[in-house]
Amino acid sequence: YSKSKPFPKDFLWGASTSAYQVEGAWDEDGKGLSVIDMGKHPEGTSDFKVASDHYHRYKEDIALFAEMGLKAYRFSIAWTRIYPKGTGEINEKGIAFYNDLINELLSHNIEPIVTMYHFDLPYALQEKGGWSNRETIDAYVNYAKTLFKYFGDRVKYWLTINEQNMMILHGAAIGTLDPKIENPQKELYQQNHHMLLAQAKAMKLCHEMCPNAKIGPAPNIISIYPASSKPEDIIAASNFSSIRNWLYLDAAVFGRYNSIAWSYMEEKGYTPIIQEGDMEILKSGKPDFIAFNYYSTSTVAESKNDPSDKNSTGDQQIAIGEEGVYRGVSNPYLEKTQFGWEIDPVGFRSTLREINERYNLPLLVTENGLGAYDKLEEGDVVNDDYRIDFLKKHIEQARLAITDGVNLIGYCPWSAIDLVSTHQGISKRYGFIYVNRDEFDLKDLRRIKKKSFYWYKDVIESNGEKT
Ligand code: BG6
Repeated sequence: YSKSKPFPKDFLWGASTSAYQVEGAWDEDGKGLSVIDMGKHPEGTSDFKVASDHYHRYKEDIALFAEMGLKAYRFSIAWTRIYPKGTGEINEKGIAFYNDLINELLSHNIEPIVTMYHFDLPYALQEKGGWSNRETIDAYVNYAKTLFKYFGDRVKYWLTINEQNMMILHGAAIGTLDPKIENPQKELYQQNHHMLLAQAKAMKLCHEMCPNAKIGPAPNIISIYPASSKPEDIIAASNFSSIRNWLYLDAAVFGRYNSIAWSYMEEKGYTPIIQEGDMEILKSGKPDFIAFNYYSTSTVAESKNDPSDKNSTGDQQIAIGEEGVYRGVSNPYLEKTQFGWEIDPVGFRSTLREINERYNLPLLVTENGLGAYDKLEEGDVVNDDYRIDFLKKHIEQARLAITDGVNLIGYCPWSAIDLVSTHQGISKRYGFIYVNRDEFDLKDLRRIKKKSFYWYKDVIESNGEKT
């Protein structure tokens, strides 16, 4: 560690949230319904109606972020607050809310990093086919234009779509796939094509409308390890990486489909319909950086070509339709979180190096963190040493990646404050700040600084020297 390079001087030490997971106020001030509001959430877990009530408490929350020393805050704008029906009339109260939020951040010298779309597609668009319908591309671009127009004078970092790859690989989970569709994978790859077009158009528009701003995609990218040195395992890992990672980034950066992923789609009958001019559109949008979310790596072996592939342990993210491509296995070298996710800080360095090598662009980490059952103790204390340990190891590996030559511009762990997890309720906490509520008992929603809050403050103050 002593020989490693320091973090850059203007490094964006941040933290992340997303609108539907933190804001609450699900139907207030003209907000329309999103697929999340209409979706199911697993039994025993909270819905997203109140969440952390950030919509009403954002000033208090931002004051805490400032106290923690955050240089950046990555949040998402709820499309349905701006356009309740996805398109059509602008909801001025939605504009006002995000104006206030952005101004509040800037008044504390916190750089806003804005995700334009984080899973919460307007339900009105979903009813018309969602991403299967090409009109959603226009709705997204129109929405993007509005965001650039109203907030582009102050927001310098834009993220197009959060975890597009997860929405495609697990389409049913987010509620953007019609469950009655016959060949869901084909439909999902068609949706993917439309999202890629929407993203490319938004990146181009951003450069035209906000020449000083930067924009990039924000998929979930992870190193994929082969289970052994068996050559077939190496090919399986490479195939999976192409389908899971590079398909999305190659399209965003180079404006083309990755050949391995394309062959996979051909073989399975998933190839999207590409209209004339589409590939030119894809090529016309260029990202300024790559943002990505990282939680863990995945380890895969050669497929056994039978249904047991699906039941394999290891990667909890194995997707339907990928049978015959790989088989997920547990990595014997890695420990797991309370929620069964493998913990792999070295894999973080490896992921950073891989993305850097393939694209040679600045990188911004927009999520990384540990979900755990935190315990609020007597005297408003939360001793989340396990979270500190997790983040510390990842920050050390990020620094090694910088030493390797990776141009890492920021690190925004998930999450700035406790919020409702995508599938496992509020009990799966990620924040530096505890929110006093349970799954169904909202209690007083008061904010309590966890031990990790004080620790992260020191990390930021020392620009990563003190972990
Ligand atoms: C990412 C998402 O997939 O992972 C977040 O962008 C999500 O929205 C985070 O909350 C953690 O996943 P989970 O299921 O533990 O909430």
